[in-house]
Amino acid sequence: MVDPPAGRRKQSILVVDDSLVNAALLRELLESRGYPAVAAHSAAAAEMEIACQAPDLILLDVVMPGKTGYELCRELKEDPRTRLIPVVLITGLIAHEDRIKGIEAGADDFLTKPIWPEELFARVGSLLKLKEFTDELETADSVLCTLGLSVEARDPYTEGHCERLARNAVDLGRFLGVDEECIVALERGGYLHDLGKIAVPDEILKKGSNLTPAEWDIMKQHPLTGEKICRPLRSLRLVLPIIRHHHEHSDGSGYPDGLRDRDIPLLPRILQVVDIYDALRTARPYKPALGHEQAAATMRAEARSGFWDEELVSEFFGMLDRRRQVA
Ligand SMILES: [Fe+2]
Repeated sequence: MVDPPAGRRKQSILVVDDSLVNAALLRELLESRGYPAVAAHSAAAAEMEIACQAPDLILLDVVMPGKTGYELCRELKEDPRTRLIPVVLITGLIAHEDRIKGIEAGADDFLTKPIWPEELFARVGSLLKLKEFTDELETADSVLCTLGLSVEARDPYTEGHCERLARNAVDLGRFLGVDEECIVALERGGYLHDLGKIAVPDEILKKGSNLTPAEWDIMKQHPLTGEKICRPLRSLRLVLPIIRHHHEHSDGSGYPDGLRDRDIPLLPRILQVVDIYDALRTARPYKPALGHEQAAATMRAEARSGFWDEELVSEFFGMLDRRRQVA
């Protein structure tokens, strides 16, 4: 393997095999080509290793005592923290249904025993390359999220707003049973929804209320600006509608598109509900913070008058009630 350019870390591989001999052989093979590799001899040991230091690729034996390779693979692919690590299932089984089982568990590739070194190196090489691209996209994502936080930092009264929004939007999404991809989008949406305010001058941003019509026009551009900044990133495609539509109103009086009711996609409606609640519960220079009951009454009244999705507002308070019961 060619050394990574300066500043880029060397990629590592985790070999998971209950057979000490097989694991050692694979490690030696990989290291002979310059790939740093560590071995774990059970799914539990692999989980500890991954929690400690996430690898860039996992070679995973299918048949192991305890949790099988299929089960571990499925769990890794369902966890947003590990789902982007490529997993190659190593199997002695060649039955068609075993392969289907592997694909269903989310495996990225397969190797069949006995392993041919050149086949191993070819797959490892291409999957590590893919992981490198994914990491670059992830880095771009986190740069944008940090920018989102820097927008928040321009207004001292909104401290912690993005983080609370991300947490509550994720909780409401889970409460409603939306899929994991949408949950990730909701979390990012918490940080990115107001990214476009980066182009709104401080004097307008900090004024808060009583904007002149010209100032409003500038303020109302922020969903479009934010969408434009994030559009090149494919990984943010589900976040784009959240950014664009988080100021639409159910009665069509919102912006930028004046969408109505269910024409407003679900994810921005979810973010909107948690955003309004957070804004009501937070003190600003021009208004005091409301208590929970007051905020709930205000939101329900506004939903009835056509601003917000009434059903979603009701679900949100149902979720908060349940959270309070559990606490
Ligand atoms: Fe906004």
